[in-house]
Amino acid sequence: MEQRVTRARTLKGEITPPGDKSISHRALILNSIARGRAEISNFLPAADCLSTLACLQALGVEIELHRACSERSRRGKVVIHGVGKKGFVGPRDVLDAGNSGTTMRLLAGLLAAQPFVSVITGDASLRTRPMDRVIQPLSLMGADIRGRDNNTRAPLTIRGPALSGVEGGMLHGIRYRLPMASAQVKSSILLAALFATGDTIIEQPAPSRDHTERMLQAMGASIKSEGSTITLSPITDPLAPLTLRIPGDISSAAFWLMAGAIHPDARIRIMGAGTNPTRSGIIEVLQSMGASLKIENERLEGREPVADLLIESSPLEGTNIGGDLIPRVIDEIPTIALAASVASGTTVIRDAGELRVKEVDRISATVRELSKLGADIEELPDGMIIHGVAQLRGGRCHSHGDHRLAMTLGIAGLVAEGETTITDAEVVDISYPAFWEDLARLSAQDVQRT
Ligand code: S3P
Repeated sequence: MEQRVTRARTLKGEITPPGDKSISHRALILNSIARGRAEISNFLPAADCLSTLACLQALGVEIELHRACSERSRRGKVVIHGVGKKGFVGPRDVLDAGNSGTTMRLLAGLLAAQPFVSVITGDASLRTRPMDRVIQPLSLMGADIRGRDNNTRAPLTIRGPALSGVEGGMLHGIRYRLPMASAQVKSSILLAALFATGDTIIEQPAPSRDHTERMLQAMGASIKSEGSTITLSPITDPLAPLTLRIPGDISSAAFWLMAGAIHPDARIRIMGAGTNPTRSGIIEVLQSMGASLKIENERLEGREPVADLLIESSPLEGTNIGGDLIPRVIDEIPTIALAASVASGTTVIRDAGELRVKEVDRISATVRELSKLGADIEELPDGMIIHGVAQLRGGRCHSHGDHRLAMTLGIAGLVAEGETTITDAEVVDISYPAFWEDLARLSAQDVQRT
């Protein structure tokens, strides 16, 4: 599908971003391990989370997905009937993680501990992404995981410890220093550690999103975080099911924050966005660029901080982004690059080499596509240098099959001169199925698709 977007005269109104993708995955997985019924509202029924849901169903978990009646809202309620620590059954077919790295890496941790054989694969993009980052620590725990390309890529074949002759038929806890600040790798190890013998201690080079830790704590697991070190003991009592409302996804809200900041006549209120400090570096980035951003109605939903965010047109200045801030804005960098393209001065983004192993190489794809719209942007091995220009111009650009790049280009279309066409635009279904409808409503334009 191609999507055409024209420059918006004004951008005014309210947006309720869809449920958080990372928390939706974890609500499904952790509640499947718990014993009993949990109800999840504001679940994100987007392709990535539906991949996790289908994999868990194939492992014998009963999960009911009630979609909201209104197609526009695309918000779901899910009821999970957790099977408990020993209730998973061997899948009859290959598990399919689709485009979702979170599904594959987190489930690899769960599957590594089960008393059966499973095979997990994904789409062409996911099959190119590094899986050795989970295979290595899980193998240190005694797991038997094989992957393509010398155990680095999916499909993965996972044989449980009870079958592969590990002493006692169980994984064992480890002390592990993560080579990169990755919440997916951390969560994969934590999931395996729930089923292991002995404690697991993980040291992080920098904080990454801590949704797994918060949820495990709320479900009664013995987990503690001290500085950058996390210690988890295996489950002795069953995890308690956790009924919760998923906060709005700050990574989806980020598109509207940037749109509001860079459009000359904008005022957008974003309702109920998660503001967990391990995820909300985008707020600091906007503040450092001089954006007019108000944080209102701060509250806690479950164990997660949530707020409404009011963004208004603001002259932005270039900024420097690197170090420990990177893991807290990792998914927002394409849209930050867009804002930097129309800010005054220069923005330098460094230490973001992880972007090269996302759904696509997001450094080179972002640089390529924003350049087509007139941005002055240069690729670095671990980031970008962006010199602000006065005005972007519409053009034809490609999403590279990447949801976040497609949405970034959609926002670029709202401020660029003339018309912008985005190819493969349906890829927004991965994390924000109502994105194009929200864009049309907020910009009061009849967004054309062909
Ligand atoms: C995610 C963690 C991040 C992020 C991804 C979702 C998660 O990846 O980029 O979109 O839900 O744990 P890494 O942990 O690999 O950096």
